[in-house]
Amino acid sequence: MSDNTKVHKIALLGLGTVGTGVYKLVEERQKDEFYFKTGTRLEISKILVRDAKKKRANILPQITITDQWSDIINDPEIDIIVEVMGGIEPARSYILEALNAGKNVVTANKDLLAVHGKELLDAAKENKRDLLFEASVAGAIPIIRPLKQCLAGNHIDEIMGIVNGTTNYILTKMTAEGMDFAQALAKATELGYAEADPTSDIEGYDAARKVAILASIAFHSRVVLDDVYVEGITAISAQDIRYANEAGYAMKLIGVAKNTPSGIEARVHPMLIPLSHPLATVNDSFNAIFVHGDAAGEVMFYGKGAGELPTASAVVGDIIDVVRNIQYGSLGRISCSCYKNLPIKSIDDIESRYFIRVSCQDQTGVLGKIATVFGDNEVSISQFIQKDIVDGNAELVIITHKVFERDIRKSVDALNKLDVVHKVSSIIRVYG
Ligand code: NAP
Ligand code: HSE
Repeated sequence: MSDNTKVHKIALLGLGTVGTGVYKLVEERQKDEFYFKTGTRLEISKILVRDAKKKRANILPQITITDQWSDIINDPEIDIIVEVMGGIEPARSYILEALNAGKNVVTANKDLLAVHGKELLDAAKENKRDLLFEASVAGAIPIIRPLKQCLAGNHIDEIMGIVNGTTNYILTKMTAEGMDFAQALAKATELGYAEADPTSDIEGYDAARKVAILASIAFHSRVVLDDVYVEGITAISAQDIRYANEAGYAMKLIGVAKNTPSGIEARVHPMLIPLSHPLATVNDSFNAIFVHGDAAGEVMFYGKGAGELPTASAVVGDIIDVVRNIQYGSLGRISCSCYKNLPIKSIDDIESRYFIRVSCQDQTGVLGKIATVFGDNEVSISQFIQKDIVDGNAELVIITHKVFERDIRKSVDALNKLDVVHKVSSIIRVYG
């Protein structure tokens, strides 16, 4: 490598969990490796943070740490901006300004892409620059590039999987170690899996953003966060997990995107997965995504979905791609591919199997009354199991055949009006 090898200067926006991982990986691979992979050298020259006075360990002294965006956007030597600060503003404005100034952008920001993806991708296209976002979905797992490139010859009709590491970690710890929800969440936060505000993880919004991004790419039709039906895991109890296990299922937070003749289904909710299904054994912060294409059949992606280095792995892969595209004059090669405008299906119109836990009186005739409600609402029952007596009430678990969601909702409304029913404690969709 000669001394006059071209150097690509990078600015990092953010030096938190992901930014630190990116910094470490770029510095560690600095020597000859990037040169052999790209024919050029990479250098992080500036880092934007909120608090420039905060002590940052192990950052080389020649790197400028600033809280002024103008130090970065006005620096003509920087040709790649890596946005790992998160949130909508100012990240959206910074990315737009960067693209309009002819800089390339790599981001891990799913919050932004799931709402403003079209605007940002349009700006990238207009400026013939790269906007790459592999890290925005499922951390280390390559999924955006496979959908846009390797599987481009397919009609993809379904994507389903575990796309949030924090909730998978929590459910794993609650199931395997009997940890309570708060304990497991605290540990996930300590490990850097959870978002700064974990509400979006545990309420399902983080997964919903990823489903919106994946569905848009897979079905070539823009799906935004508001199109995704969302339920998180905060209502899941240890009792639900135990009963599910006894019935042969694991409790998982699942993201689903389906391209059906009547529209796109996009949803995130807890789901009971048969213990024999590969998703049932995806534990801790691991993510796994199944993609079904008409030519490829079923393809499964598995790996670490969150954390410092796993996420940095995807970000640095994108940086290397940008540099290669600069080298070969092919910037903007892979851009927005939403050329359709498909309708979004209402949750009422989806079909699923359901696990319903009912707390009711333990006396003759109760099962008959409950079964009649389901029958009257076109809901066919597959299993009826009487579990423990809790606080004087019998716990019933009902597992249905595949039925419409609207019929389940009507049934639950009617059950809640029965004098023998104390309450319907849980309604959880079942795989299959
Ligand atoms: P984080 O630990 O909270 O770090 C955020 C960083 O951005 C901090 O260094 C902060 O500065 C800086 N920052 C925030 N707002 C800023 C502002 N207005 N101006 C300047 N700097 C600002 O976040 P993270 O977990 O690394 O996540 C970063 C992004 O990656 C998010 O979009 C997230 O969704 C995405 N992501 C995260 C993971 C993960 O495992 N954590 C995985 C995939 C994707 P200070 O240091 O001064 O506070
Ligand atoms: N908080 C996310 C998760 C990581 O737990 O999967 C970023 O996508």
